[in-house]
Amino acid sequence: MTATAVFVPAWAKINLTLSVLGKRPDGYHALASVMQTISLCDTLRIETTADERVICAVDVTELDNDDNLVVKAARLLLAEEQLAGGVAIELHKAIPSPGGLGGGSSDAAAVLTAIARLRGLVLPQSRREELGAQLGSDVPFFMHGGTALVEGRGEFVTPLPDVEPLWLVIARPPVSISTAAVFGALTGDDYSATLDTDAVVAAIRGGKPLPLDRLSNTLEHTVLRRWPAVAATRDALLSAGAPIVRMSGSGPTLFAPFVSLKDAAQVYESTRQADIETWLCHTVSHTQVVGALPAFPTT
Ligand code: C5P
Repeated sequence: MTATAVFVPAWAKINLTLSVLGKRPDGYHALASVMQTISLCDTLRIETTADERVICAVDVTELDNDDNLVVKAARLLLAEEQLAGGVAIELHKAIPSPGGLGGGSSDAAAVLTAIARLRGLVLPQSRREELGAQLGSDVPFFMHGGTALVEGRGEFVTPLPDVEPLWLVIARPPVSISTAAVFGALTGDDYSATLDTDAVVAAIRGGKPLPLDRLSNTLEHTVLRRWPAVAATRDALLSAGAPIVRMSGSGPTLFAPFVSLKDAAQVYESTRQADIETWLCHTVSHTQVVGALPAFPTT
């Protein structure tokens, strides 16, 4: 029997590097970033239906409306590919949002991929990324997942070999920051060259361990200066023993990478005891991302 409903994980991401190179004439910023899928994930149940409606129920009240990127993604795919019928979606949120972990973008990418598969639609990678870019700057990355170099405003995705598996302590400062506000606060002096991103890409392509001292984020300095709650959470992670702490995307979420679970667990426990919202998770490879997708129909 052909499946009409599937469960799909929508993984979060971190930015191992995020180099903001400058402002573009269209108002967006030119980026070079190494993005990495992580095991923190939302879960979607996606069912294709005979009637024309697109409906979505979310277990977080603030997101339970038609402005949800998930609904936009389903409507976009049905219209662009001229697919008859509708979609019923249930979304269980686990990724803090907004937070710099790409939760909404990952949900949207999962919807595009799942509906295409349920309807037996084979979309080339370039078409998948083009559809993704219409929904948001981070969506094209999630159409691929694993480790990738992301450029332009986010629409150019170059897959990279998997990084060595790393444990991650994720901590969310108690503050909500809009992506537009962070980019808008940048001045000409804040922009960076691609040096750190280049070094990280070269190490990954060379099969070398990730150079943790080259992880960087151009937006971090601005956010730490303007939002003291983020600096306080960063200090808590450092005091708990994390050797490296970086911000993901436009924040405020922070991450600390570890090779050893024992070290990660110790930092996780002491940060959690300091009443900071914290997760212990790990990197997710491209193979794992692909393996978790629903199969194409066989009949
Ligand atoms: O594309 P998305 O909706 O995720 O972007 C949200 C906001 O973040 C944009 O309106 C813009 O202000 C800022 N942004 C940017 N440069 C990027 C990505 C996002 O300035 N490359």
